[in-house]
Amino acid sequence: MNDRMSTPWGEYALARFPEDPREQLRAWDAADTYLLRHLAESGTPLTGSVVILGDRWGALATALSAHRPTQITDSFLAHEATRANLARAGAEEAAVQLLTTQDTPPARIDVLLVRVPKSLALLEDQLHRVAPGVHEGTVVVGTGMVKEIHTSTLKLFERILGPTRTSLAEKKARLIFCTPFPGIARDTNPWPYSYQLPDGVGPVSGRTVVNHAGVFCADRLDIGTRFFLQHLPRSRGSERVVDLGCGNGVVGTAVALANPEAEVLFVDESYQAVASAEATYRANADGSAEFRVSDGLAGIPAGSVDLVLNNPPFHSHQATTDTTAWRMFSGARRALRPGGELWVIGNRHLGYHLKLRRLFGNSELVAGDAKFVILRAVKK
Ligand SMILES: C[S@@+](CC[C@H](N)C(=O)[O-])C[C@H]1O[C@@H](n2cnc3c(N)ncnc32)[C@H](O)[C@@H]1O
Repeated sequence: MNDRMSTPWGEYALARFPEDPREQLRAWDAADTYLLRHLAESGTPLTGSVVILGDRWGALATALSAHRPTQITDSFLAHEATRANLARAGAEEAAVQLLTTQDTPPARIDVLLVRVPKSLALLEDQLHRVAPGVHEGTVVVGTGMVKEIHTSTLKLFERILGPTRTSLAEKKARLIFCTPFPGIARDTNPWPYSYQLPDGVGPVSGRTVVNHAGVFCADRLDIGTRFFLQHLPRSRGSERVVDLGCGNGVVGTAVALANPEAEVLFVDESYQAVASAEATYRANADGSAEFRVSDGLAGIPAGSVDLVLNNPPFHSHQATTDTTAWRMFSGARRALRPGGELWVIGNRHLGYHLKLRRLFGNSELVAGDAKFVILRAVKK
């Protein structure tokens, strides 16, 4: 949806990435506009090093591009959206320094703006990472929808940066004001977090999984992933296998351990996920694997892949869930060679078999239980 966000700095046409005419979701919300209005009305000096953490689709970076901010995000899609939104606003891409959550943050931060992420763990990790650059005079303002800001969110700011309070709610959004206290005795960053897999999950049984903050099911094995690990296809010879939406990489690592000749490609749109997958793989295997931050299989040559394994993301918003799964499945169809297979695990109620039948002309049930199904589609 291409929509206009009105701010004290002007109006901006903003869109999510990739743009999808079927998806009527805005690229900004009341939390973004509340923060921007507050900055203008309070006369906050936006000088020195301005850092924006967690900007969802680049709304904040685009509106503040004249202040040459640094944007830090875990999302490849957010970076692409920011690039496109800057171009729409007529700003040069170099106006915003785009960093990932894995990059080293600026050594000095004078203004820190935090769009509270959905994952509390990611907030914890990122506040720890930026904390050394925050000084007594740093202006720290967070923003989020009321339902995204909990006592635990405020406690993180308190524990890692300093005393914290919140604003009144406006249009269901709230601001967070934090006064940095440089002498704070903060704990060490607990991330990344490793745990050992249980028995009974095939080749990765008892193996170590490494999770950077914010990845899917970072502290335990997801029950759907467990079911998938128990029913993975046999891979033979020098097959090219893609772990699509790899998260911590446990699925692709299982394939690599079962078939050391397989060339496994781990793909995710989250920088934290791809870093986790690489760490999980390196902790357990030493073959040749590739790690790629990308939107699904975009950029993978057509017909170059033998097997795609996919546990698609499920968000609270059904439209997002559907369009991402559709993009992943259609990308897999393009990337697979004739005879190549896509294996998908999903909640039974999501009805993925209908999408697979439309795209591939076939869909076979490999395994199922009360909650999950594993489906196989073959490229004809
Ligand atoms: C349900 S998790 C599965 C993680 C892992 N494969 C597992 O089974 O534990 C879905 C993953 O898809 C990733 N994802 C979401 N949108 C994506 C996209 N457009 N391209 C690539 N990966 C994406 C998410 O970041 C997340 O890691």
